[in-house]
Amino acid sequence: MSSQQTFRLGILGSGKGSNADAIADGCASGKIPAQVAVVLSDVAEAGILQKARARGLNAKFIDPGKFRTKLDDAAEVAFIKTLQEAKVDLVVLAGFMRILKGEFLRVFKDRVINIHPSLLPSFPGLDAWKQALDYGVKHTGVTVHFVDQGIDTGPIIAQETVAILQGDTAEMLHKRIQETEHRLYSKAVAALARGEVQVRGRQTIWKQS
Ligand code: GAR
Repeated sequence: MSSQQTFRLGILGSGKGSNADAIADGCASGKIPAQVAVVLSDVAEAGILQKARARGLNAKFIDPGKFRTKLDDAAEVAFIKTLQEAKVDLVVLAGFMRILKGEFLRVFKDRVINIHPSLLPSFPGLDAWKQALDYGVKHTGVTVHFVDQGIDTGPIIAQETVAILQGDTAEMLHKRIQETEHRLYSKAVAALARGEVQVRGRQTIWKQS
C-alpha cells in the first residue's frame, strides 16, 4: 500500500456487530487511520449488516453453504473474491463464527485478525466468558490475535484483563468484556493500520509511535 492510500478494512461477523460498529466509529472519527471497505456476514439477517447499511457502508451476505462451522468451497471463493475486489489490506473478524482455514489464510497471510472474549490460551471456543465464569477464575479478559490454522491459537497482538466480580452473571460479565473489546480492538486495528505491529513467528512486536 502506498502512503497516499487509505488502509482498507474488510470486517466479517455473524452477530450483532458491536465491535464492527466501534471500529467504524474509530474510522469515522479519525482515531483509526483506515476505512471500512466492506462488511460481510454468513448470516443474512445479522445485526452487523443492518448496522453497516445504516452507516452507508458496503455490506453483503454471502451464503456459507452446507456446513455448520466452516465455509464450503464455493463460499470460501466468494468471500475471498469479494474481499479482493474491495482491495482490503486487513481482514477483521468481529464475531465471525466460522473457522477460516486453507486457501483463505494463504491468500490473506498475516492479514487476518480476530477478537476473542477471554485471555487466550485460556477458554478458546464458544461462549468464553461463560467458560471463565463456570471455571471460577477471578480475572478473564480480551485477546486480539492473528488467525492461523488452529482455533484461537494465532500470535497474540494485544490482551487486557477484565475482573470477575462477586455476583456477576454471564450477561453482566459479557457486557464489561464487550466494552473492553471495543477499546482494545480499535487500538489494535489503528496500530496495524499505521504499520506499527509486526509478526515474527509467535511474537508480535509493537513499534513505539
Ligand atoms: C464478541 O464478544 C467476540 O469476542 C466474540 O463474539 C462477539 C461478537 O460480538 N467472538 C468469539 O467468541 C470468537 N470466538 P459483536 O457482534 O457485538 O461484535
